[in-house]
Amino acid sequence: MSPLTLFSLLTCAALTASTIPPSYPHPPQTCPQPPSLSCSLPSFPQSTNKCCTETLGGLILSTQFWSTYTGLETSHNQVLPSSSWTLHGLWPDFCNGSWTQYCDLTRQYDPHPEPNTTTGKADGVPVPAWKGVGAWGRRVERLLKWMRKYWIAQRMENRELWAHEFSKHATCFSTFGTGCFSERGLERYEDLVEYFEAAKGWFEGLSTYAWLEEERIVPSNKTGYALGRIQQVLGKRHGKTPFVGCSGPRWNETEKGKGSLDAGRTVLSEVWYYFHVWGRVQERRGVPVRADLNGGSTSSCAKAEGAVRYLERAKGSEGGADQKYFLTGVP
Ligand SMILES: *[C@@H]1O[C@H](CO)[C@@H](O)[C@H](O)[C@H]1NC(C)=O
Ligand SMILES: *[C@@H]1O[C@H](CO)[C@@H](O)[C@H](O)[C@H]1NC(C)=O
Ligand SMILES: *[C@@H]1O[C@H](CO)[C@@H](O)[C@H](O)[C@H]1NC(C)=O
Ligand SMILES: *[C@@H]1O[C@H](CO)[C@@H](O)[C@H](O)[C@H]1NC(C)=O
Repeated sequence: MSPLTLFSLLTCAALTASTIPPSYPHPPQTCPQPPSLSCSLPSFPQSTNKCCTETLGGLILSTQFWSTYTGLETSHNQVLPSSSWTLHGLWPDFCNGSWTQYCDLTRQYDPHPEPNTTTGKADGVPVPAWKGVGAWGRRVERLLKWMRKYWIAQRMENRELWAHEFSKHATCFSTFGTGCFSERGLERYEDLVEYFEAAKGWFEGLSTYAWLEEERIVPSNKTGYALGRIQQVLGKRHGKTPFVGCSGPRWNETEKGKGSLDAGRTVLSEVWYYFHVWGRVQERRGVPVRADLNGGSTSSCAKAEGAVRYLERAKGSEGGADQKYFLTGVP
C-alpha cells in the first residue's frame, strides 16, 4: 500500500470515528464513502460502524465443492449442475485466520447443527436443532431457481445446507447483524435473503470449472492432474492462491503412490477463495488474498505429479432438465 493510500485510510478512519457512533442500528444507505477495507486499521470495531464494514469476520471465504453425486437424485431430483462446481457457502474468518460459528442462536434454522455446541466441545453452548418448518423458503422465491441449480448439498436436502450455512456462518458477519437492516427494523428472514444473494454474487465471479477447462483440466476418470498446475491456474484467475481441498485416499495409500512420503489426499473436492472486503460484504467489493495469509494451509491434496483426480460425475447425477423443488413443510 502506498503511503498516500494509508494516509487517506487513516483520515477516513478519523472521520468515521468522530461522526458515526459505532453501534447498531445503522441503515446501510448512509454508510460513509469510501468504505474501509476489512482487516485494515480503520475497520477495527472501535473505530467504525459494524454494519458498514466487516468487523467480526473480515477475512471472507467463498467456498465451492466438486462432487460426483448427491445421494438424493431419485428421492428429491437433487442433481449437480453441468459444467459448474457447486456453491457451498460464504464464510467469515477472523483477520487472524481463526473463526467462530453459530454466533446468534436467535437465528438458528439448521436442523442438524454441526458441531452441536458453539465451540465444538462438550462444554460449549449447545446449538439446539431447528425443528420448525422452512417458512423462510417463501422469502427466497425469486432466488430459488438459481439456488436449486447451483447450491447443492450432498446426502441432505439443499434447504438444510442453506439453513446450515446461514446459521453457522452468516450470523458471524457483523454486516449481516440484525440491527443492520432498514430503519423499520429487520423484516422476518430478510437477513437470510441477503445472505443467500451475497453468497450467490461472490460465487458467480469465481468460475472454477471454466477456468480449469480453459487450461484443459477437465473431469476425467482416467487421468490424474498435478496440484501445482491446478493451483497455478486458479491462482492466476482469482489473483491469489486459493485453498484447494481433496478428499478420498491418501496418495501413499494408493497403488501408484505406495511407498511415497506424500500423504496428501487424492480426490479434488473443494476450492476456497479468500478476500478482504471494502465496506459491506453484501456489496462484494473484494480484494483477493492468499489462503495462507495468516499461516493457514493452501491445500490438503497430494503434490505428486498426476496424483489429483478430478472425477467425472456419476451417470444421472448431473442436471439438465428442470429440477423439481421440494421445500417440505412450507405452509
Ligand atoms: C483471533 O482473533 C479473534 C477475534 O479478534 C480472537 O478472539 C482470537 O483470540 C484470535 N486468535 C488468535 C489465535 O490470535
Ligand atoms: C452433541 O453430540 C455429541 C455426539 O453425538 C453428544 O454426545 C452430545 O450429547 C451432544 N451435545 C448436545 C449439547 O446436544
Ligand atoms: C501414509 O502417510 C501417513 C502420514 O505420513 C502415515 O501415517 C501412513 O501410515 C502412511 N500409509 C502408508 C500405507 O504408508
Ligand atoms: C467416475 O468415478 C467416480 C468415482 O469412482 C464414479 O462415482 C463416477 O460414476 C464415474 N463417472 C463416470 C462417468 O464413469
